[in-house]
Amino acid sequence: MSDALAASYDDFPYESRPFIDAHPDRLATMAILFGITPAPVETARVLEIGCAAGGNLVPMGLELPNARLVGIDLSPRQVAAARSLVKQVGVTNVELQAMSLLDIDEDFGEFDYIICHGVYSWIPPEAQRHVLTICQRNLAPNGVAFVSYNTFPGWHTRQMIREMMFYHVESVSDAKERVRRARVLIDWLAVSSPDRNVPYARKLAEEAEALKGADDSYILHEFLEVYNEPIYYQEFLRRVDAANLKVFADARYRQMAECQPEGLQKALGVMSGEMDRREQYHDFLRDRTFRRSLLCHPAVGAAPLSKHENIDRLRVSTLVRAMNPRPDLLNATVEEFRNPDATIRVTSDNPVVKAMLVTLVEAHPRSLPFRELFAAALARLDHLSPAKPANVDRATAAATVYLLRAYAYMSVDLHAYEPSFALEPSTRPVASPLSRLQVTDASVTTLRHQLTKPSSFDRLVLRQLDGTRTHAQIVEELIKAVRAGEFSIHQNLQPVTDPELLRPILTRSLAPSLRRLANSMLLVA
Ligand SMILES: C[S@@+](CC[C@H](N)C(=O)[O-])C[C@H]1O[C@@H](n2cnc3c(N)ncnc32)[C@H](O)[C@@H]1O
Repeated sequence: MSDALAASYDDFPYESRPFIDAHPDRLATMAILFGITPAPVETARVLEIGCAAGGNLVPMGLELPNARLVGIDLSPRQVAAARSLVKQVGVTNVELQAMSLLDIDEDFGEFDYIICHGVYSWIPPEAQRHVLTICQRNLAPNGVAFVSYNTFPGWHTRQMIREMMFYHVESVSDAKERVRRARVLIDWLAVSSPDRNVPYARKLAEEAEALKGADDSYILHEFLEVYNEPIYYQEFLRRVDAANLKVFADARYRQMAECQPEGLQKALGVMSGEMDRREQYHDFLRDRTFRRSLLCHPAVGAAPLSKHENIDRLRVSTLVRAMNPRPDLLNATVEEFRNPDATIRVTSDNPVVKAMLVTLVEAHPRSLPFRELFAAALARLDHLSPAKPANVDRATAAATVYLLRAYAYMSVDLHAYEPSFALEPSTRPVASPLSRLQVTDASVTTLRHQLTKPSSFDRLVLRQLDGTRTHAQIVEELIKAVRAGEFSIHQNLQPVTDPELLRPILTRSLAPSLRRLANSMLLVA
């Protein structure tokens, strides 16, 4: 079966990309919140099982230059692609091996963080058991493992669609053609129901809609692969327990039962007072399809502090901006903050909270250690009204309680480390080598391990940022690109091609472009 699986991923490689939920920073952050003291992220030993073409692991090599990262995958073709990426990006701390996870034994070494994303549900039972054995045997005493898997009840509907797809592609062996046919079936299911208003038809249409934007590789490996074994959370817990491990949290704090709105928490509390059981009932209510569980050794005890008190050991960043250009921090005026696409909106009338958010906005995209952030917020308020000193203990408690809630609602992010990146472009700016390599891809990877989509002009600039060009030389390269037809600039609806006219326009555009690239955490100097 291993040969068949390797061949499947060799023939149709999985779209390989960074997963912020599986980054050691997230694993360490959640561990710290839950009272565990994990290894420092900067110098961590990391193992990724099923690393595919390195889209998750290789960026970590750049982000964590003092860490040691090991990736293994069954598919030689994908590992070859990952090795080539390592070479092109020039990282020296990432090792890759084409091998089966079944061959990882005790001698393979000890790791502070083990990542197994998008693998567990798609491998035979023996390999599933071995994933947990590795998490037990090869995980450092205070290590954190990430295992993601498909779950019921959400996968009951998808299972049904998977079975229908299997029926529809039965006679076809070519992977591309199987995916094409599967898509035909999905579209047909979405529109052909005799009564589109019955719940069954609506559910099919919903699932079909969700699959429309999916990559071919996702459809192939998720729906048309021989193995796909979703399980209930309780069953995963049972297996984890049998492997002498424990689940301490979900990698997405906001998806945990304890972060849900009060009404839902009450409803879950009616069914059980126990965290694990509430999580299971939560899956029942949400029709959950996927989980990202964080595991540790059972003896790793939570420190006595509560979660919000542990924020003291973390860093904080935000994406939100104040709606009011001069927010009133001192009084009980309600101020609103939103992220750029307005999907996250927070309001507060609390002076300390408002001062913290404004301080974070100014620091963006950097994160600040909680203590530094809190001190800066108090200093800001003190400066505005020296006569009204804050009660520091009460304010600290209020600030950490607020930040924990804000983390659950995604208006702030928490971190255990800060990557190194440049906010001020140097005289010869340098972009992350990976982003330069990805400049023509749909998205490029930031130094915070996220994907971003620069504008076409910013991509043109990004391409020049290898550290060999001054700002003036970059402008000359941009002029060449415009004259070669790679980018057009218009004035009074007419294209501009004269270098003498282009030079001042492009010189004016360069600084804001470099600022955008720096703010997207793409510059190293
Ligand atoms: C669905 S892909 C996920 C890849 C990547 N982790 C991600 O989430 O994008 C599953 C990966 O597991 C690998 N795999 C399957 N069985 C394996 C085994 N026994 N040992 C190592 N890797 C395996 C496949 O080659 C494939 O790259």
